[in-house]
Amino acid sequence: MLENQKVENKTYVWSFLGRLNHWLLVSSFFACYISSFYENLLLLHVSLGFFVFAMFLKKIVWGLIGPKYARWSDYKFSLLDLKLYFKRKIEDRYREIEVGHNPASSWFAFLITWIGIFCCMAGLVLYGIQEGNGVLSFLNKDYYSLMYVYEQIHSILVYVLIVMIFFHISGVLIEQFYHKTNIIMSMVTGYKKAKGIDIKPRLQMIFFGSLYTFFFFLFSFYTYYTPDNIFVKSKFEKIDYKALHKDFHFECSDCHNLFAPHLLPKESWVKLMSEQDNHFEEDLELDKSLVKSIEKFLVDNSAENSTRESSYKLLKEIKESKQFIISKTEYWKKTHQDIPEKVFKNDKVESKSNCLACHKDFELGILSDMNILYLSK
Ligand code: HEC
Ligand code: HEC
Repeated sequence: MLENQKVENKTYVWSFLGRLNHWLLVSSFFACYISSFYENLLLLHVSLGFFVFAMFLKKIVWGLIGPKYARWSDYKFSLLDLKLYFKRKIEDRYREIEVGHNPASSWFAFLITWIGIFCCMAGLVLYGIQEGNGVLSFLNKDYYSLMYVYEQIHSILVYVLIVMIFFHISGVLIEQFYHKTNIIMSMVTGYKKAKGIDIKPRLQMIFFGSLYTFFFFLFSFYTYYTPDNIFVKSKFEKIDYKALHKDFHFECSDCHNLFAPHLLPKESWVKLMSEQDNHFEEDLELDKSLVKSIEKFLVDNSAENSTRESSYKLLKEIKESKQFIISKTEYWKKTHQDIPEKVFKNDKVESKSNCLACHKDFELGILSDMNILYLSK
């Protein structure tokens, strides 16, 4: 009976699971953010992203079935209350605080949850459209030209989240040190210095809540450690060029790595083939029919006819397509600008054209982010 319960100046408001989810969300979000700066950590980024997504979604469900103070119905969304909240905050330093969410934290929790969900969804779409990976990889074929748009949406939403987190932390610090409400500890112990009724999470709630978190924890590991699973699998398979076009493979991989046709635009290949008798001072000595056949294969599979991220971006950014040194294209220069010059001159690499030194499976047409080797010396 509610009336019989004691109302004290200390209330148990945040359940263990609620607190655990909060800190798991915080840590997975930041790990996810940091991993986004390294191309070769994309798989880790995505696996963490699944977990972040699940934690945001859980907030929605928890708000429907969770303990009292976590419920959306307990949130305060009135704008008038929001105004009054800030008025009191300014006027009365040692005011009594609300036991559940106050109007400001209600809005904050509501907005960050939904923006977080949209951010993860945009990430998933981007993963499909740009990389041709995951359950949405089928979108790559028709929508690859939207990759910049989704890249923007995804990163703008991330920065909105980061600005919100900044305000959240500032608000918490003001509560802690100015109002002296010891609010930080409430997310550790679950107890808040406020008048109210202690929550008593039901057993089913604890069971299903833990199961959910544990399931997505394992799911995240699963997606990371089995790179061939449908949630992260690439639609771009390895290409056996030897089987596909024997002459191209034979004639073009003798002196250097085999360059996949999707790495250059049509015009570049046509020019390269028309100058085959003076190819970097080498005469390739190809007869007319061979030139024609290889050129057709190159043109048919050129960057224009590929929906890969590298092909699309290369074409978008290219200024001079009548040359065929890949490392001189704007896109190549931009993606490799952070690599020190000396790396390209070391014994393992020797030349910028030696793509295979840093891109595993390069000769099979793969330029996946996961296959990049970072060399620093
Ligand atoms: C006789 C040796 C030889 C053969 C055969 C050969 N190449 Fe080359 N190729 C070179 C040399 C040398 C370079 C300059 C590479 C460098 O700077 O390290 C080069 C460079 C290139 C580049 C530019 C590399 C870059 O960094 O962007 C492309 C593209 C290329 N070759 C394509 C082809 C194609 C296509 C064929 C088959 C039709 C072919 N090559 C056959 C010797 C050869
Ligand atoms: C010394 C090692 C090295 C060599 C050689 C090298 N790359 Fe890279 N490449 C990298 C690294 C590292 C990155 C990731 C950069 C980053 O984190 O933004 C990268 C990124 C790329 C990307 C962008 C991948 C993406 O999905 O965003 C493409 C495309 C690429 N390289 C193509 C090539 C080609 C083609 C060659 C050969 C002409 C080549 N690279 C030679 C190290 C190398």
